[in-house]
Amino acid sequence: MPVQRTVFGQPLALRLPPRRFQLLFVFVLLFIASIYAFGAPSPASIPTYEQVKGAVKDPHLPDLSDIKDHIPKIPTELPNLPKLPLPDVFSPPAHTPPEQANSTASSSYGAIKWLTDFKWRNPFSNKITLDENRAVLPPLANRPPIYTYYEPNPKQDKKVTEAENRLILVWRRAWWAQGFQPTVLSHKDAMGPRFELVQRMKLESSVELEISRWLAWEKMGGGILANWLALPMAQYDNSMISFLRRAEYPKLSRVESLQNGIFFGEATLVKDAINEAINNKILQDVPANKEKIAKLAQQDGGIVVNLLSADIAIDKKANGLAYYNMDVVNNKYKTVNTTQVEGLELLADLINSHLHLTFQETHPEGIAIVKPLPEHTTALTYNAIEIGRNLTQCPSSPMPKSCPPNRQKCKPCDPNKPLPFKVVPTFMNATKQYSIGTVPHPYTLTSLHYMREDIDANFLRKEAGRNPWLTALTKELLGPDHSELYRVLFFKEEVAALRKASHSLWLTAERTTQADLEWIFGFNLPQAASSNKEPSSPSKDSELIIFPRPGEPKAIDGVQVQEERWIRNEEDRLKKAREILSKSRKAKEEDPVHIKVKEVEDWNLADTEAWRFARAFSARRRNERKDWEEKEKDYSGSERKAGVKPGGGGRWSD
Ligand SMILES: *[C@@H]1O[C@H](CO)[C@@H](O)[C@H](O)[C@H]1NC(C)=O
Ligand SMILES: *[C@@H]1O[C@H](CO)[C@@H](O)[C@H](O)[C@H]1NC(C)=O
Ligand SMILES: *[C@@H]1O[C@H](CO)[C@@H](O)[C@H](O)[C@H]1NC(C)=O
Ligand SMILES: *[C@@H]1O[C@H](CO)[C@@H](O)[C@H](O)[C@H]1NC(C)=O
Repeated sequence: MPVQRTVFGQPLALRLPPRRFQLLFVFVLLFIASIYAFGAPSPASIPTYEQVKGAVKDPHLPDLSDIKDHIPKIPTELPNLPKLPLPDVFSPPAHTPPEQANSTASSSYGAIKWLTDFKWRNPFSNKITLDENRAVLPPLANRPPIYTYYEPNPKQDKKVTEAENRLILVWRRAWWAQGFQPTVLSHKDAMGPRFELVQRMKLESSVELEISRWLAWEKMGGGILANWLALPMAQYDNSMISFLRRAEYPKLSRVESLQNGIFFGEATLVKDAINEAINNKILQDVPANKEKIAKLAQQDGGIVVNLLSADIAIDKKANGLAYYNMDVVNNKYKTVNTTQVEGLELLADLINSHLHLTFQETHPEGIAIVKPLPEHTTALTYNAIEIGRNLTQCPSSPMPKSCPPNRQKCKPCDPNKPLPFKVVPTFMNATKQYSIGTVPHPYTLTSLHYMREDIDANFLRKEAGRNPWLTALTKELLGPDHSELYRVLFFKEEVAALRKASHSLWLTAERTTQADLEWIFGFNLPQAASSNKEPSSPSKDSELIIFPRPGEPKAIDGVQVQEERWIRNEEDRLKKAREILSKSRKAKEEDPVHIKVKEVEDWNLADTEAWRFARAFSARRRNERKDWEEKEKDYSGSERKAGVKPGGGGRWSD
C-alpha cells in the first residue's frame, strides 16, 4: 500500500510537476552546481537561451536507460534530488579525492591523469574528480593469470633459447590481448620437498618436466596452466575464452584433443591430483616400470593425468584454442622444421599470421576509419589509416594458405579480395567491423574544421557549434535528438566497455606515434610488404611470404576529395594546434594561451570530455602493460629476453 504522507493532518499529494519542468529543474540545478564548482563562467561557457530551451524540450534527456542499468539515473523523483551537489556557499569546498597510485602518465600536453572508479559512467569526470584534467575510468578488468612453464634445455644453443623466448612472447601477447595475465614459470617456481622427491625418482626428462609443471602451477594456487604453444585463437567473446576469463574453475579439466596443452582447476584440485599421481605405485620403482611410464606419458592429458585413477573432466566444446605441439606442426605445417632455429622463427611467424587471420575473420566487414566532419580533417586520420592498411594486409606467413589448428576450415587471406577498408563519417555499431577513430582536442578540431588558426571566445560564440565532433560521430547511430550527456556516455562505453573495446581503437590526434598495438591486437602487424602486386619474400633465402600493402581506404561517398595543397594547410594547422596545446599545458592559468584553450574546452564540454577520456584510457592501458613487462622482465618470454625493444621502441611521445 502506498504511504500516505500528511502535513498537519492534511493528506499531502506528492504529485510530480510536469516532465518539462522536472527537466528544467534538473538543468537549472546542474547549472548552479557547475557555477559552484568552477566559479563564475566565462562568457563562452554560458548556455544560450536556445540551449536551455533545447534541453528542456529534448525528450531524450532522461532516457538514458537504454545504455543499460549502469548509468546513474537522472533523478525523476523529487525525493532523490538532494543527492545532487547542491550549492552551499557557507561550508568549505569538498576535498579532492586522494590521488590513486599509478594514475598519471606524462605527455607533451601535460600530465594525463585519471581516477579509477565505479562511477565512471558519468558524463562529466570533473563532477567526481573535482579536477578539470582528471578523467574517471572504469576499474581495470581483472586479468586472471594464465601460467606456462618453460625450462630451456641446458645443452641447447643460445640461439635456440632466444627463438623459444620469442615464441613465448607471441604466447604472452596473444593472452594479454584476450584479457589475461600471462605468466611464465620455471623450475624455480616448482621447488619444494615434492620437487626433490620427483627429482630423486630419476624419471625421463620430459616426464619430470611435466610433473614439475604441475608442481609450479600448484604453488601459484591453480588457475590455468597452458603450454606456451597453446594460444587463444578466436574472437574476444568466444565462449571458451570468456569462460577462462571468469576465473572460476570448479572442476579440474583439460580440453579434448589438446593433449596436455591446457588445464584449468582450483588449487586444491591440482594439489590432490599431484599427490595422487606422485603416490602412484608405478613411480615407486621407476627403472622397472620405464616402458609403462613412457606409454602413459604419451596418452592424452600427459603423465600426471594418466597416473590418476580416473581421468579429469574433458571440455569437449572448446574451439577457441590452438595448440601447435610438435605432432600438429609436423603433420599440418611441414614447411616449418622446428629442429632448427629458422624453423622456430617461422613457427612464430606462422602463429602470428594465424592470430592476424583470426582477427580478419572476426571482422569480415573490414576496417572502418571513422572521420567525423570529413571535409577538413584528413590530417587527423594518417595514423589510423596507417594502422588500418597494415591490418587489412594479408599476414606475412611461411604458409599463407594454412589455417589455424582449431579452425581447419578458415578462409585464408587473399590479396585479390582484400578485407573491406573504408572511411566513414560516423561511427557504426557493427561488431563485424573494426573501427579506428582519432579523437581530437576541441581546439585542434575547431582549428581544422573552421580552417582558422586564431580562435577566441568571440569567434566561438558567433560561429562555432558546440561539440561538433561527438555530435557528428554519433549522428547516424543515435539520431539527432539526443543530448550531449547521452552522447558522451555512449562514447565512453564504446571506448571502455570490455566487449565493445575489442571492436574499436581510439587514438588521440595530438599523439604522433602509436605504441603497444601488438599488445592490443595480440599479434604483430606486418612490417614489410611486397614491392609490387604479387606476393614475394623479404629476402632471397627467406621462406616467409609477404603480401602487397593495401592502398588508401575507400573515400566517403559524396565528400569531395581535397586537393593536395589544402591537405598541406591542414597539416600545418594540426601542427600549430599541437604547439598551442602543448604551450597551454605548460603555461600559467592567466596566460592568454591557456585562456584561449580553456575557452574552447568550455565551449565544447562534451568533446573535451571525450578527448580526455580516450586519452586517459589509452595512457592507462599503456601503463598497465608497461608495469607488467617491468615485473616480468627477468623471466622467459619478456621483451628483453626475446630481444625486442620494450614497447616497440618505447615510443610514447603523446
Ligand atoms: C604501480 O606501479 C608499480 C610499479 O610501476 C607496481 O609495482 C604497483 O603494483 C602499481 N600499483 C598499482 C596500484 O597498480
Ligand atoms: C629438419 O631439419 C633437420 C636438421 O637439419 C633435418 O635432419 C630434418 O630432415 C629436417 N626435417 C624435415 C621434415 O625437413
Ligand atoms: C548496437 O548493436 C547491438 C548488437 O548488435 C545492439 O544490441 C545495440 O542496441 C546497438 N546499439 C545501438 C545504440 O544501436
Ligand atoms: C605498416 O607497414 C609498413 C610497411 O609496409 C611499416 O613501415 C609500418 O611501420 C607499419 N605500421 C604499423 C603501425 O605497424
